[in-house]
Amino acid sequence: MHCAICHGKDLSGGLGSSFLDSEWKHGGEPQSMFDNIKYGLPELGMQPFDGTLSDAQINALVIYIREKNHQAGLAERPTPRPEDEVLKTRYYNYRIEPIHSGELDTPWSTVQLPDGRFLVTERGGDLRIIEGGKLLDEPISGLPQSWEHGQGGLLDINIDPNYADNGWIYIAYTVKAPDEDTYMTALSRGRLKGMQWVDNEVIFHVDPKFYSPRGPHFGTRIVFDQKGDLYFAIGDRGIQDQAQDLTRPNGKVHRIRPDGSIPEDNPFADVPDSYPTLWTYGNRNPQGLAFHPVTDELWETEHGPRGGDELNLIRPGINYGWPVITYGMNYNGSPLSDKTHAPGMEQPVYHWTPSIAVCGLDFYTGKDFPQWENDLLIGSLRQEELWRFRLEDGKPTQQELILRGAGRIRDVYVGPDGRLYLVLNSPGQVVRLIPE
Ligand code: HEC
Repeated sequence: MHCAICHGKDLSGGLGSSFLDSEWKHGGEPQSMFDNIKYGLPELGMQPFDGTLSDAQINALVIYIREKNHQAGLAERPTPRPEDEVLKTRYYNYRIEPIHSGELDTPWSTVQLPDGRFLVTERGGDLRIIEGGKLLDEPISGLPQSWEHGQGGLLDINIDPNYADNGWIYIAYTVKAPDEDTYMTALSRGRLKGMQWVDNEVIFHVDPKFYSPRGPHFGTRIVFDQKGDLYFAIGDRGIQDQAQDLTRPNGKVHRIRPDGSIPEDNPFADVPDSYPTLWTYGNRNPQGLAFHPVTDELWETEHGPRGGDELNLIRPGINYGWPVITYGMNYNGSPLSDKTHAPGMEQPVYHWTPSIAVCGLDFYTGKDFPQWENDLLIGSLRQEELWRFRLEDGKPTQQELILRGAGRIRDVYVGPDGRLYLVLNSPGQVVRLIPE
């Protein structure tokens, strides 16, 4: 309504510039686009929209323009696709191969045991085994009950850093309140005895008064720092303002010990009534967590709403801003916040608009692709993309798309065998990247 007369109905330009090419004369960052719309470029013929449009509406416009610009760019960008037999990237050519026969049903996460077998969680509640290239028909029996509610179900899995000595396996899953249709994320550990889950210990679960009836944003991932403490995340459970509420467990990253006890020096220990396991807050829906193999820094990927997916460096006690600041808007295109920055709230290291639906991530530490050593590999669900980020001084200095279109990537995993695996939702498969 306000812009088409100069920038074209299809945004391809006219009196004003095209929004579909890669050229931004007046700055392509969200903040400069915002300023250009709000304050105008009067000397060039564009009046300010301050007064006509609210800040939140201008933010939504910036997101809309960035989405259209991204879509226009996709057609031109060469991307490695799985139907090419050999996929070409900057340093390596590679192939993709499933590591098993059979099909998984909505797999969420995988971990490799020292004997070479893989455990894979299916969101519906089954824990499956891949052995010698075969997906065994029988799931593991005796697992704690999980509830497939909305995005919830059986979620992440990991093994103890000292698995060879203690045999502990950790799972995250969705639990239901006894008397109500409300749901929350919980964690257990247990051991494998043949095809049975034994010695189950619930190591994290919250009072049902904190549960939510909503379907989205259960978060999770289970990772360990070099000291052996355990970190995981819970999304906002569809009630966004609770991400800022320190008395609640949702919308947060948490730290506990592997046995479920709580370290005394958690960052909010001195804040009255704060939830004792909190490590950070203001996190919308974390879907990836990984420790840097050298610096032991915790990195996180987080789903934004429409626009504003984030890569964050997670440091204790920090507020990551959701829903007060965000680079995204509501799914229906209506504005969400008038702010992308605020004092006391951390900026993402990187953000994606449109959202790619960032998911699992891992640092590359394997042998197959030595040039990628310690690079961050980031998977995406909706755009079916795999990104490689090189980090220097906490900033991405190389960003390379190394795969698109092989399926929704739920998890990225470098196994103890040094190989790189992806968990794909559709078709339900674990695949390996093999250098040519
Ligand atoms: C009366 C014409 C006119 C209208 C209406 C108008 N613009 Fe512009 N716009 C311009 C001109 C002219 C430029 C500068 C083009 C140049 O530098 O070549 C510009 C530049 C911009 C830029 C900077 C582009 C760049 O290359 O960095 C943005 C962003 C922008 N407009 C957004 C909008 C939005 C959003 C609206 C509607 C809310 C809007 N404009 C309405 C004429 C207009």
